[in-house]
Amino acid sequence: MNELEKEIGRRRTFAIISHPGAGKTTLTEKFLLYGGAIAQAGAVKGKKSARHAVSDWMEIEKQRGISVTSSVMQFQYKDFCINILDTPGHQDFSEDTYRTLMAADSAVMVIDASKGVENQTRKLFKVCAMRHIPIFTFINKMDRESRNPFDLLDEIENELGIPTCPINWPISSGKDFRGVYDRRKKQILSFAATGGHHQVAATAADLSDPSLPQLIGEENCSTIREDIELLDGASDEFDINAVHSGKLSPVFFGSALTNFGVEPFLECFLEMTPPPLARNSDAGAIDPFSPDFSAFVFKIQANMNKAHRDRLTFMRICSGKFDREMEVCHIQSGKKMKLSQPQQIMAQEREIISEAYAGDIIGVFDPGIFSIGDTVCAPGKKFAFEGIPTFAPEHFQRVYAKDTMKRKQFVKGVTQIAQEGAIQIFREVDTGMEEVIVGVVGVLQFDVFQYRMKNEYNVDLVTTGLPYSHIRWIDSSPCEPKQLKLSSDTKLVEDLKGNLLLLFTSEWNIRWALDKNEGLVLSEFSRGILQ
Ligand code: G4P
Repeated sequence: MNELEKEIGRRRTFAIISHPGAGKTTLTEKFLLYGGAIAQAGAVKGKKSARHAVSDWMEIEKQRGISVTSSVMQFQYKDFCINILDTPGHQDFSEDTYRTLMAADSAVMVIDASKGVENQTRKLFKVCAMRHIPIFTFINKMDRESRNPFDLLDEIENELGIPTCPINWPISSGKDFRGVYDRRKKQILSFAATGGHHQVAATAADLSDPSLPQLIGEENCSTIREDIELLDGASDEFDINAVHSGKLSPVFFGSALTNFGVEPFLECFLEMTPPPLARNSDAGAIDPFSPDFSAFVFKIQANMNKAHRDRLTFMRICSGKFDREMEVCHIQSGKKMKLSQPQQIMAQEREIISEAYAGDIIGVFDPGIFSIGDTVCAPGKKFAFEGIPTFAPEHFQRVYAKDTMKRKQFVKGVTQIAQEGAIQIFREVDTGMEEVIVGVVGVLQFDVFQYRMKNEYNVDLVTTGLPYSHIRWIDSSPCEPKQLKLSSDTKLVEDLKGNLLLLFTSEWNIRWALDKNEGLVLSEFSRGILQ
């Protein structure tokens, strides 16, 4: 095996998803801790008063205590080089989650053992399932009273529609939590809370060990023996191919806060989750181990650090090795360039890197040419990766700057935020950019947009809610689109590329427009919009 294959083969790139509060940040923190990337627990999450994660960049996230944008962290663990992609927990940012998942080879879903499948788990899972990537489940907070583990698995299977295969099994929960039984190693890892909150001692014992009743108690001992018998007879068999195609989720129980079961989970997960996967392009699947560098843009973020006033483009390397001195070709513009100040991000720390491999995520300064989904390749290679679809917006606002003198900043802010894919913008036909119609998938995106316009571009906005909920591009019109017969609450607008589209308040109005205008052809999609 050559150096390149070795480096790529040890990469593991995955996303973490959870309903807010289930323990995603705590689990990530423990991973980083084991990898030596941070020195102590609590470095990621501060005290309650100043509660925020290092992966939360934006002020608004701190204020709301939710993760709005997603971030990337790299660390080493044993022989593995791990890239964790954090995802926004809130449903209004599911589009961002989807893009992040495009860059991941697998996902870890964190579930609160006392709550089970929650609203956001459901929505985020759906987004994950669209990608058909392996999904691993970590059932967290076993140190608190949990729901019956069989019920939890039933719920995952019934509500999310994915069969599960428990890799370990909990011995009671809450105050009586005694540890887990590792079904593969056929041994018990016992949990013993040590005074303080953050450390546990783990000792191994076999299920038939005569000292077991003493270790975990008579009752727990008979329960676990029964449970395991039941599981061995009834649960889905472990099948790594089913895991890899997203058809079976391996389940682990543990407690991130008390450190219990996190390291065994990480080890097992790293062994089961695949190294960088091949990606589809218009020239077929691209082998990650091929020596030629290629990458695609999955995220653009402006003003990540207010002091820098910059715009970073995040790329997932899909094949080969990236070298800082190399010249690359941006397929969509046909331009050759050196990627400026390539960097990797460890939480808030940015580090300029000189090389990176398939599976890694790099951030580069964006001279304003990149769009989401773009491909960058070694010179001489000419292929484009499959694009990243956009979600159709469902909420609309009319927006202009309160202070007309701020027109320039307004246009800049609105355009940049739209290029990042955080909002979509439309305008009345044949008008300028003084006033735009902003479309979003989740309403909280309006808040973030408004906050960022004020905070980053110094523009106060005047916004008016609009009643539209459906968007259709005009593929073909029997007359000048302005002459179309439309109900009074239907609006003709154009997108930034000059495509004409209609905003409707209901499905009924769409049908009405089609009935009254023979030859009108509408499309739900533009450049791969996803419903
Ligand atoms: P999130 O990123 O998914 O939103 O969840 P986060 O890790 O921030 O955890 C949410 C709350 O759950 C935190 O408590 C955290 O300490 C707690 N928690 C996480 N894992 C466990 C666990 O295994 N057991 C128990 N008992 N609690 C856990 P908080 O009170 O909101 O914040 P803080 O006081 O810890 O800062």
